[in-house]
Amino acid sequence: MHYQGLPENIGQTLSAKLYQEEQRFVAPGLQEVSQLSRLVIKEAKGCRLVDMEGKSYLDFMAGVAVCSIGHAHPNYVTALREQLDKVTVGSFTTENRVALLRLIASLTPGALNRTQLYSGGAEAVEAAIRLAKSHTKKFEILSFWGGFHGKTGGVLGLIGDPFKKNWGILHPGLHLAPYPDCYRCPFDMAYPGCSMFCLDFVRKIIENNTAGSLAAVIVETMQGTAGNVIPPPEFLPGLLEIAHENDALLIADEMITGFGRTGMMFGSNHTGITPDIMTIGKGMGCGFPISGLVSTDEITASKPFSKPSSSSSSYGGNPLASTAALATIQTILEESLVENAREVGDYLLRGLRGFEEKYEFIGEVRGCGLLVGIELVKDRGTKEPLDKAITRQIFLETLKRGLLCMNYKPNFRINPPLTLSREEADEGLAILDEVFTHVARHIPYR
Ligand SMILES: Cc1ncc(COP(=O)(O)O)c(C=O)c1O
Repeated sequence: MHYQGLPENIGQTLSAKLYQEEQRFVAPGLQEVSQLSRLVIKEAKGCRLVDMEGKSYLDFMAGVAVCSIGHAHPNYVTALREQLDKVTVGSFTTENRVALLRLIASLTPGALNRTQLYSGGAEAVEAAIRLAKSHTKKFEILSFWGGFHGKTGGVLGLIGDPFKKNWGILHPGLHLAPYPDCYRCPFDMAYPGCSMFCLDFVRKIIENNTAGSLAAVIVETMQGTAGNVIPPPEFLPGLLEIAHENDALLIADEMITGFGRTGMMFGSNHTGITPDIMTIGKGMGCGFPISGLVSTDEITASKPFSKPSSSSSSYGGNPLASTAALATIQTILEESLVENAREVGDYLLRGLRGFEEKYEFIGEVRGCGLLVGIELVKDRGTKEPLDKAITRQIFLETLKRGLLCMNYKPNFRINPPLTLSREEADEGLAILDEVFTHVARHIPYR
């Protein structure tokens, strides 16, 4: 698929040549942002990416919430360099893996103190589901509209949007319920007058739709892919209660919300819940493919999950991956990046909220730490989303001005590195202001 409205100089630059060369050999299906931007990145440092022509882009995307401590952080570079000289392969215990597992246990809530490591998010979610099945001896899973947990066979059916269409038979025993996306309430109600009707509805779905064998409820503590959606505070505690009423486990998928992004260590911390299993990834490794699940002594001892080799993988917790995650999490703590995410996130949110008054096509600005969602609409009354053709133009206008932002969709997301400074936030705000003024004046968006 090729997009319209590419940067004017495409075709002549080294970036363009490399991009086109890659297109001859790469199988289609790469991330939309890469196809739309056609960026070819030479290097990156802190919150900035630099292309082959030396043009710098402020990074409000962070590899979709992956780049937590910024690009090429010196702690990260040094730790990985040192580990490369020592050992890179194998599932044997290493000093760094011990330190990593201990550190994770010290940060996760309640009795979540046993971690199993994997390489990708979907793999960790699949493992969490196997663990829930092992523990409960049941097989059904409930997930949410708008939810995203990866694209592998076992988790594809958990997705709560049309992405899962046309792949054939989905995993059996999966059920979905509406997520409290209050801007577009599935029940057309308004919080708090709704009295959290969505929770009552979850109960009804479990009662009427399942075969009575619910192993787990899996939920993003704040939905990333759906547009950085933040549920009301009653939601997660209510859901935990419902899961336990049904002798099922609550799996909190903290892939995006984990390790400080939301201004607390985990999304679960905002309402003080302790899920039964937590899945982690993305920002924990700052680019090195590492993910994991965390649960209790009792749950992780369940069979068959706990049998030798039953829950392992070739690369899970390998020496390089463990080193990358250890350096990342230590840096998050040493540099108070959780606090920074909260403070700079609040600052950014205040700036963006100013745009709500200024631009009619901004339907809502919401956020928690450095997880921010913005709704772009044709009309505030109807809340009809802007056409994608328009949001793609908005994305390219933003990129042209040196800001990489996921505003190619009407429910757009801002999730920069947790190291973002106020000055960088101001720079991004100024670019977005300029782009939005351009839209208001020159783009017929209605
Ligand atoms: C909440 C959540 N879970 C799981 C995944 C899947 O992770 P991966 O792409 O590493 O398989 C994602 C990816 O965006 C995610 O946002």
